[in-house]
Amino acid sequence: MRVVTTKAELQQLLKIEKKQQKTIGFVPTMGYLHEGHLALVKHACQENDIVVMSIFVNPLQFGPKEDFDAYPRNQKRDEQLAADAEVDYLFVPSVEEMYPYPLSIKLSVEQRVNVLCGNNRPGHFDGVATVLTKLFHIIMPDRAYFGRKDAQQLAVVDGLIQDLDFPIKLVGVETVREADGLAKSSRNVYLTDTERKEAAVLYKSLKQAEKAILEGERKPAQIIHLVKNCLNKHTNAQVEYVEIYQYPTLKEAASLHGMILIAIAVRFKKARLIDNLILEIP
Ligand code: PAJ
Repeated sequence: MRVVTTKAELQQLLKIEKKQQKTIGFVPTMGYLHEGHLALVKHACQENDIVVMSIFVNPLQFGPKEDFDAYPRNQKRDEQLAADAEVDYLFVPSVEEMYPYPLSIKLSVEQRVNVLCGNNRPGHFDGVATVLTKLFHIIMPDRAYFGRKDAQQLAVVDGLIQDLDFPIKLVGVETVREADGLAKSSRNVYLTDTERKEAAVLYKSLKQAEKAILEGERKPAQIIHLVKNCLNKHTNAQVEYVEIYQYPTLKEAASLHGMILIAIAVRFKKARLIDNLILEIP
């Protein structure tokens, strides 16, 4: 694995690979790697000749009161994990390399953002879309890999690739979970021991919703009520939202059929956790 810190060097190296007709899979991350990230790499390795991973904690997508400075980082450990997972090029640019001067152009995401996390994190998806556009241009991958855990991000990237005509195939990868169901996340390290135990309830509440739907419930309000009750009863976390939308448009779901997203966000003392299920309902 080669660690690259500048755009120019990465572009030079990838030019040589592309001349040899090699296909490129791209896994963008903010580091502090865990098995969720590595599952994306595994898919990328299976489907491409070359795998590029980026690690960049993108200041543009953090709000003024969010955890940009405190975001967990450990480059040495990440390098080892990426090498073991058979990443070919690890791109770790500095903030100055990515944003050498104030941007004269930023993207503004118009659809799929005024719900879920987008509601509480104004500008967040503009920052995600802007950094991904830069990374897509630098790397020009054939395929890009994103986790379904961040279902709204996946929907926004789907819109970005379609609207701006990136010749990239978007691949959504299933959420990787701990044994008790908690979705793996770099932010899980912020949980206290008690919160960590309670956090398993997020997935349990989603599975309860799935069971109710399988048993015939078709009213979104009923499902939302069920999930909220479960979260409030079994955790001390503050429930930020429980919402249901059509997927990937994130439009209102009047009743439950077709591709449906059930998404939740809760706030523990130091950690905000999200989780979701994407269901296909006949
Ligand atoms: P980050 O939070 O590091 O996540 C990188 C990728 O890993 C995302 O596509 C995310 O959905 C995926 N991922 C995280 N946890 C996962 C899990 N438990 N199972 C499967 N996939 C998981 O998302 C970002 O970084 C940034 O917003 C980024 C896209 C890199 C832009 O800055």
